[in-house]
Amino acid sequence: MNFFNYRNGELYCEDVKVRTIAGRTGTPVYIYSTRTLRRHYDVFKRAFAGTVPLICYSVKANPNIAIISLFSSMGAGADIVSGGELFRAVRAGVEGREMVYSGVGKTAGEIRSALKNDILMFNAESLEELDAVDAVAGGLGLKAPVSIRINPDIDPRTHPYISTGLKKNKFGIDIRYARDAYVYARSKPNLKIVGVDMHIGSQLTDVSPIVSALRRVLGLVRGLGRDGIDIRYMDIGGGLGITYKDEQAAQPDRYAGAIEGALKGFGVKLILEPGRVLVGNAGILATKVLYRKQNGTRRFMIVDAGMNDLIRPSLYDAYHEILPVIETSARRFQQDVVGPICESGDFFAHRRSLPLLERGQMIAVMSAGAYGFSMSSNYNSRKRAAEVLVDGEDYYVIRKRETDSDLTRGERIPSFIKVRSTDA
Ligand code: LLP
Repeated sequence: MNFFNYRNGELYCEDVKVRTIAGRTGTPVYIYSTRTLRRHYDVFKRAFAGTVPLICYSVKANPNIAIISLFSSMGAGADIVSGGELFRAVRAGVEGREMVYSGVGKTAGEIRSALKNDILMFNAESLEELDAVDAVAGGLGLKAPVSIRINPDIDPRTHPYISTGLKKNKFGIDIRYARDAYVYARSKPNLKIVGVDMHIGSQLTDVSPIVSALRRVLGLVRGLGRDGIDIRYMDIGGGLGITYKDEQAAQPDRYAGAIEGALKGFGVKLILEPGRVLVGNAGILATKVLYRKQNGTRRFMIVDAGMNDLIRPSLYDAYHEILPVIETSARRFQQDVVGPICESGDFFAHRRSLPLLERGQMIAVMSAGAYGFSMSSNYNSRKRAAEVLVDGEDYYVIRKRETDSDLTRGERIPSFIKVRSTDA
């Protein structure tokens, strides 16, 4: 459910016309709906009413500080995977005690910043990382709270690039050696074992792989209890999928019911790391038609957003619905919607039935709130898009469009190169 709707043939975000926003910021522009974000968070939280979990919003899905801060104001913590995400979460007002830190490659500097911010726990992904966290914590005279991310070897049945819980994936510690890893962690003087963690993949439409993985991990927790290792926090990651096209994605209440069922009898505090399910359908990418053309039998709609703005179709062959911003009765054709970038992989849709739009008309690429702006780049030296947050009849630019000087910020021409023009 979201608050992007047509009224009198024109696409609105809540009570604001998409056209009005684009008129002010230009295109391409990401537009997010506060009402949708709040609703998604509420539905997710209410689904877990029986357990009162700590919901750590997965910052990587959409790291704009306005979005992190909105969820934080509703009681969320943050799931972070880098020093940069830690910085953002702090800027957005999230308390360290509500942050969990995952990722296979945490550097000593990142570990130090996280410890200084007193985070809730590190989700350690290797024995060598445990050594590193122990060493940094020792240097600071602290005890680092750790959990171990378990790789349960369960097939999440999603795109291979976003599947993380199989033993061929780089994530976590193989469940067969997990107990040894805990015993190892216990032997470290500057570590304090507080939890256990898993995350088996993203865009999961079926909850059963999550429940199977959870059962395996709970078996481990039981064994650890017998070894005298107490687990306080059970972090089960994120991964709940959304509907992009016609997927029958499990709803939060089914997800919650299955998890609460599996956790019955375990006195652990549940931690969740939802990303996509909160923000995915709360955002669109509005872009303008630059040109139309036909090559052989293929008809192309060339728009002013490219794969640098939204890479999901290029990278995962992901489907995003495309809607004209102004409804039209123009004849429909099968069209390839493509961007201006010099790669054939730069597309938003192939052979999609869409009305033949005029130059200057706009389309909305739907469900672009998660892993949209966050994966955008400056490829082809394109300036990254503006981001706007709508709240009822109001809207706010939460990130300005980049400028030419943003593109060369930090670059220097060394003195041995003779610059020919003095304007440079
Ligand atoms: N926790 C951890 C440790 C993660 O690695 C992720 C996502 C999440 C939570 C949040 O997962 P979510 O609830 O959003 O599924 N770029 C890809 C998705 C990559 C997901 C990476 N990890 C895409 O556009 O589909």
